[in-house]
Amino acid sequence: MAYLYLLCIYYLIWTTRTNASLSTIGNVYYNMRYNSTDTIITSLTVKYQVVCAAQCANLFVNCNTAVFDSLAIPQCSLYSGRITPANLTVSISTIVYDFQQSKLPATPILHGWNKTGITVAGASNGSAGKAANLLSQPYGTALGSSNSLYIADFANNRIQRWLINESNGTTVAGLSNATAGASSVALNMPVSVVLDSNDNMYFTDKINHRVVYWANGASSGTTIAGILGISGSTNNTFNRPNGIARDSSTGTLYISDVHNHRIMKYLLNASSGIVVAGGNGAGTGITQLYYPFGFTFDSSSNSLLIANYRAHNIVRWVLGASSWTLVIGSLTGLSGSTSTLLNQPVGITLDSMGNIYVADSRNHRIQFFVAGQSNGITIAGVTGLSGNSQSQLSFPYWVTIDDQLNLYVSDYNNNRVQLFLHC
Ligand SMILES: *[C@@H]1O[C@H](CO)[C@@H](O)[C@H](O)[C@H]1NC(C)=O
Ligand SMILES: *[C@@H]1O[C@H](CO)[C@@H](O)[C@H](O)[C@H]1NC(C)=O
Ligand SMILES: *[C@@H]1O[C@H](CO)[C@@H](O)[C@H](O)[C@H]1NC(C)=O
Ligand SMILES: *[C@@H]1O[C@H](CO)[C@@H](O)[C@H](O)[C@H]1NC(C)=O
Ligand SMILES: *[C@@H]1O[C@H](CO)[C@@H](O)[C@H](O)[C@H]1NC(C)=O
Ligand SMILES: *[C@@H]1O[C@H](CO)[C@@H](O)[C@H](O)[C@H]1NC(C)=O
Ligand SMILES: *[C@@H]1O[C@H](CO)[C@@H](O)[C@H](O)[C@H]1NC(C)=O
Ligand SMILES: *[C@@H]1O[C@H](CO)[C@@H](O)[C@H](O)[C@H]1NC(C)=O
Ligand SMILES: *[C@@H]1O[C@H](CO)[C@@H](O)[C@H](O)[C@H]1NC(C)=O
Repeated sequence: MAYLYLLCIYYLIWTTRTNASLSTIGNVYYNMRYNSTDTIITSLTVKYQVVCAAQCANLFVNCNTAVFDSLAIPQCSLYSGRITPANLTVSISTIVYDFQQSKLPATPILHGWNKTGITVAGASNGSAGKAANLLSQPYGTALGSSNSLYIADFANNRIQRWLINESNGTTVAGLSNATAGASSVALNMPVSVVLDSNDNMYFTDKINHRVVYWANGASSGTTIAGILGISGSTNNTFNRPNGIARDSSTGTLYISDVHNHRIMKYLLNASSGIVVAGGNGAGTGITQLYYPFGFTFDSSSNSLLIANYRAHNIVRWVLGASSWTLVIGSLTGLSGSTSTLLNQPVGITLDSMGNIYVADSRNHRIQFFVAGQSNGITIAGVTGLSGNSQSQLSFPYWVTIDDQLNLYVSDYNNNRVQLFLHC
């Protein structure tokens, strides 16, 4: 790993204190060999951890470590030396940014993402359209084989397949001229798509209230759940289905049925579903969901992690349980833009270490939560600031990661998909 990461965000050590020589970076332990030569430069009161880090990176050439504690004032402390865990009275909200990466031992996993995105699909200037090089309100994404990205091109009523680095996409489901319809060839606002290992697609077709199976290379699809064009709240109907997840070991599908405030499970080839979460009306109670948009199936805990859009939180619903437990955000449905709150979360994904990535749509940012933590860090976008520069987002709706932890963000209101490289 080279040391050229000046523009990349710092890596972060979430200080779950273990002992003096071990600290946690994400879920990875690494030996902190450098003892502190701490000399404090200054203490500042700043609102956001990103600002704290930026002060160190940009204002003080001799600054090597920034410690941000959101519980204190919140306080930002800048050091010329390095901090070891022994030096810190850590709270769960203390975040240490260490800039002196070139002096680190050879093995750390640096959790950093370039804050400058690269447009990989759609127009970088945010223009919408139905030409092959454009998108209109891209929603769910999925990575396929051969460096392909599948994009639910929502307002264009089609699914586009985009090869990374190509300037144009190809329509793989729906009509390429973006015409809406309700048939085996036409779609009406597809939201999200999952793929099996052969790139066969399963996707939600929102305004048609159904789930479609469309084989790789086929010219038409089949309705496999819901009734085409009919909304309802029975076990075989949906009202605006949104997110979809597939358990690849069994073929079971999970679908968020947004306007019924529930998540349905469909066993392989079943014509009717089973309510596995919510279904108790809209609300913030622990047996209820409140417009569940995106969610992810966590096979390690046999649970669903749900972006509970209108309750502004992320909840975990163990399959078979009758209520959720809070993972991120407010228990009572409070929205906000601090590191512990969300505002209309839409998409959510998990990495193999259990870290959570949330498309925090109305805050125009992607939040990263180390496994087990409810205090996040902004890894893409600028909190509260909608825009179409390469470091900004406007209503990001979906986040997907590849095996290198690079982020693909559907920048819904900017009509583009942005890639933020892990570094
Ligand atoms: C971050 O991305 C920008 C734009 O692609 C690039 O110019 C810059 O070198 C990258 N920085 C790092 C540290 O990789
Ligand atoms: C760090 O400090 C400990 C205790 O004083 C000492 O044993 C160790 O050798 C020091 N490590 C380095 C890399 O200086
Ligand atoms: C950090 O810890 C070292 C070793 O225990 C100590 O000498 C130093 O004074 C501490 N620095 C601060 C800022 O507390
Ligand atoms: C934005 O980019 C697209 C695609 O490159 C281009 O066709 C369009 O003219 C651009 N619009 C503006 C306002 O620059
Ligand atoms: C990409 O799509 C645009 C707009 O439809 C078209 O003008 C251009 O020829 C296409 N480029 C390639 C390489 O297919
Ligand atoms: C895309 O382009 C970048 C920069 O030219 C290159 O580093 C990368 O390997 C390419 N990726 C693919 C999948 O071709
Ligand atoms: C879009 O394509 C379909 C299928 O080729 C065609 O039936 C329809 O008339 C087209 N719509 C427009 C507006 O061109
Ligand atoms: C599911 O349906 C497909 C297509 O009709 C069929 O090939 C497959 O055998 C079915 N699987 C089960 C377990 O019923
Ligand atoms: C619908 O599913 C629920 C939960 O699985 C079940 O309790 C209920 O009996 C089903 N309703 C019908 C009409 O099958």
